[in-house]
Amino acid sequence: MTTLATGIDLVDIRFWDRPPEERLADFARLRELGAPVYFAEPRVPLVRSGKGFHALVRHADVVAASRNAKVFSSEPAATSPEPPPWLSKVFGTPMVNMDDPAHARLRRIVFRAFTPRMLARIEDDVRATAARIVDDVRAGGPGDFVERVAARLPINVICSMMGIPERTRPYVLSRIDAMTEYSGVRGSLASPRTMRLLAGNLKAIVDLHRLVARLGEARRRDPSDDLVSALVNANPDGERLSVKELGSFFDLLLVAGNETTRNALAHGLRLFTDHPDQRELLLARYDEGIGAAIEEIVRYVSPIIQFRRTVTTDHELNGHPLRAGDKVVLFYPAANRDPEVFADPDAFDITRSPNPHVGFGGPGPHLCLGANLARMELRIMFEELFGRLPGLRASGEPEYLLSSFDNGITRLPFTWDAP
Ligand code: HEM
Repeated sequence: MTTLATGIDLVDIRFWDRPPEERLADFARLRELGAPVYFAEPRVPLVRSGKGFHALVRHADVVAASRNAKVFSSEPAATSPEPPPWLSKVFGTPMVNMDDPAHARLRRIVFRAFTPRMLARIEDDVRATAARIVDDVRAGGPGDFVERVAARLPINVICSMMGIPERTRPYVLSRIDAMTEYSGVRGSLASPRTMRLLAGNLKAIVDLHRLVARLGEARRRDPSDDLVSALVNANPDGERLSVKELGSFFDLLLVAGNETTRNALAHGLRLFTDHPDQRELLLARYDEGIGAAIEEIVRYVSPIIQFRRTVTTDHELNGHPLRAGDKVVLFYPAANRDPEVFADPDAFDITRSPNPHVGFGGPGPHLCLGANLARMELRIMFEELFGRLPGLRASGEPEYLLSSFDNGITRLPFTWDAP
């Protein structure tokens, strides 16, 4: 089936500008059709081929495609718009755009950054950063939650993992903003603005690569106890990251670990404001309830909207024929509201159990590497916020990011009792 038959066009920028509930209602219509719908994409010179994709919107389809990485390849790219082939030649390929065995090798090396031991080591640091953010909020009074809270935590955590000093972090943040401006639907327009964003994006990547290359070379010469030293010096199997791979890994951490956690925090506050019963439930037994509450925030919000795969061989996906070379896009917000898996899927229920959401990706080799780090950041940040700012709540409507990749909030006014 094609987009014309449904009247829904996931490639059109106007679709992503509509209120989230309307988009979810359209996803529900697509799900009810029972077969993936094909969407044509425009050809953009220098950027991508414009092959179009089949939209996977049912939970069972997203799970099956994520699991079967031999048929549903992450090469040449899992992101949209697909980067042009020359980009990875210049900057290296991030692991999210790789298949095994190259992907497995990289994942083995960088896994060291996310072991329970490594996470336990940075927990105190995360708590200290969260406490400092709340100190500043109390001193400064109400304002914009995204700027004052949500944007500050994840970037500081990633930089502190990588050993990037505080004074360099505002520069890193400005580079990330330039990179992420060119993601999602805005890149699908062959306009001078898109080209300008692409140029800004490339310059930002070069700047960040230079920064971490210097760091990597220093740690190779003079290893210390930090993550970069562990990545650029050999593991017990003799594997290590090249300086170019370190650059790609850093980009990926910044893009994958920054906006996602920031948006989960902002959406979380919005949800606890709109659902005071759920907030009271959580605060009555925070330690017991926060784990399931975080899973429900990630399910309900789906901070990442989509990743794509390329079909390597003719294949039937849950009865739907696909051809070698076809593209599929996995739409996590649609899968996460699938009534075949989630009872009352539009209810925000922090006691939901089981909760097999695919907000961190479906089961398979690319399942989010930073999920436990994100869970820790959310648990600690909400604990500091709710513990020290009684009556914390959003005090106005959120402003949403226009993107088909990040379910982002760009601004959210907030306040608390007797600020
Ligand atoms: C709420 C927060 C987060 C969400 C919703 C999220 C979501 C996702 C999703 C959907 C994927 C799957 C990609 C695919 O299947 O192609 C993914 C992969 C990944 N995520 Fe996350 N993520 C979050 C936080 C983080 C954090 C904090 C980090 C690291 C600092 C991180 C690092 C990664 C990496 C490295 C991958 C690629 C894994 C691979 O290709 O093997 N993520 N994430």
